[in-house]
Formats: sequence, C-alpha cells, structure tokens
Amino acid sequence: MAVQLLETLEQSITAFTGLSPATFITLLALSVAGYYAVSGFFAGDNHPPPRSRSYEEDMPPVQLGEVSEEELKGYNGNDPKKPLLMAIKGQIFDVSQSRMFYGPGGPYALFAGKDASRALAKMSFEEKDLNGDLTGLGVFELEALQDWEYKFMNKYVKVGTIKKPEPAPEPTTNDQPAESSSVASNLTNAFSEMNRRLQDIYDLGAQRIEENREVTEIMRDRQWAQDFEFYSKPHDHLTGKALKMAIQQKERIEKKYNL
Ligand code: HEM
Repeated sequence: MAVQLLETLEQSITAFTGLSPATFITLLALSVAGYYAVSGFFAGDNHPPPRSRSYEEDMPPVQLGEVSEEELKGYNGNDPKKPLLMAIKGQIFDVSQSRMFYGPGGPYALFAGKDASRALAKMSFEEKDLNGDLTGLGVFELEALQDWEYKFMNKYVKVGTIKKPEPAPEPTTNDQPAESSSVASNLTNAFSEMNRRLQDIYDLGAQRIEENREVTEIMRDRQWAQDFEFYSKPHDHLTGKALKMAIQQKERIEKKYNL
C-alpha cells in the first residue's frame, strides 16, 4: 500500500513538474534552506535574549550634593544599581552613559569614583596621579585640565561636589608656641585664598578668550556682509574721484576674497 502511494507520488511529481522525483526533492530542500537563511538575515531574531538593564538606561542623573572622596569611591561602577561618577576639580559628573569608558574593564575605569584632575592634567594613568591635587602643575597641564573640564561640562551632568576635608584641629601640645602655629595657619589660609583667586582669574581669562573669539567671528561676518553689499552695488553712475575710489575698493575686495 505504502509502496503504491509512493509510486503515485513519484508519477505525479514527474507529471506536474517535468522533473525526476530526486531532482524535485533536492530543489525543494534547497528552497526551504534558502528561505530560512534569507528571512533570518532580514527579520533577525524575534525573541532576543533579555538584556540586563544597566543604571544609565533607567535612571536620570541624581543630584547628590556634597560627597566625600571616600563616599565617591563607591560610585566606581562596580555596583550596577549606582550611578557611575567621576570628578574634575572637585565637581562630580555622572558618566554612567560612558560605561564603556569608565565601567569595570573599560580603558578609563581607573578614573571612576575618583577626582581624576591630576591624571587628566598630566595625561597620566599612574596611581600617584589619580587624585584632585593640583599642586605643582604647569600652565599647559592646567590648560589641558581646563579643556577636560569643558568637555565634561558639555557632555555630562554635574551631580555634586567633593566635600572638603575638615581642617585638621590645631595642635594643642605645648611643644609648639601658639603664635607660630597661628602664623602657619594664617599663611595656609592666605595661600589657599590666593590660589582660589588665581583660579577665578584663570577661569575669567578663559571665558574672555571665548567671548573674544565669538565677537571676532561676528565682526568678520559683518565685514563680509558690508564688502558683499558694496561689491554687488552698481557704480556706473559715479564719476571722477568717487568712481576711482569705488574701483579701488572693488579691487581690494576682489583681492581679499580671491574673486
Ligand atoms: C595612545 C593614547 C590614547 C589614545 C589612542 C586614546 C584614545 C581615546 C579615544 C578613541 C577616546 C574616545 C573618544 C570619544 O569617542 O569621545 C578616548 C577617550 C578618552 N580618553 Fe583617551 N586615548 C589615549 C590616551 C589617553 C590618556 C593618556 C588619557 C588621560 C590620562 C585619556 C583620557 C581619556 C578620557 C577621560 C576619555 C573619555 C572622554 C569622555 O568621557 O568622553 N586618554 N581616548
């Protein structure tokens, strides 16, 4: 019975397709395989495996206010439930969106959870530079740091500042005369005030340079508009000295813009 059925099927294949049953089955198998390959390529997998959602996808940056350096270390990306933070010049930024840079295993993971000012200023990855100490940095290093600060301010949200450590209590022992210790502390205060003011001057300078650049650009644009207007105006109605001056001015414009 089964043999009869098979023979009928083979005859029908040959009758309908003009192909031998073996050729027909090979072609059918190839078509099915081809269909799956092509449809899989275009449609992709309809059921992607569930992805573990990381912090930055779910949470907007949270303002933390003042955070101690010790606390900041806890935001180094090892806890996926916490934001990934990094500080520059005492300002803390949420860098969760760049987990590939700063997250565990990332090329800049060593900066995460720290004030990396010194390292960024010196372009260093050394352990001794992974802090916010700016003492002894040169002008170019401070400038490089300023650039990093601008980059971070533009790219990331500032979520807090590093809490300054409590000033060490004045020594109460008698081995140091009270007068000299107060002179030393006055000097320290004066120096930190001076440093703060210098930084303000530096920031103001950087701001002025930026403003000047913008003004120069605006003035250049205005000059261009004036030149263009002058150049496109007809000057045929002019005569004598006025015509001569107009021609000279047109020549200057042509030279200036390589017309
Ligand atoms: C051979 C040397 C280096 C190469 C080729 C390199 C390359 C790169 C590249 C391709 C990026 C990604 C830029 C982007 O997509 O925005 C990057 C980002 C970064 N690099 Fe480097 N880098 C080098 C050295 C350094 C050094 C010495 C430091 C600091 C000590 C540094 C700090 C950083 C930081 C902080 C970012 C991330 C900036 C962000 O958050 O947008 N890099 N680097």
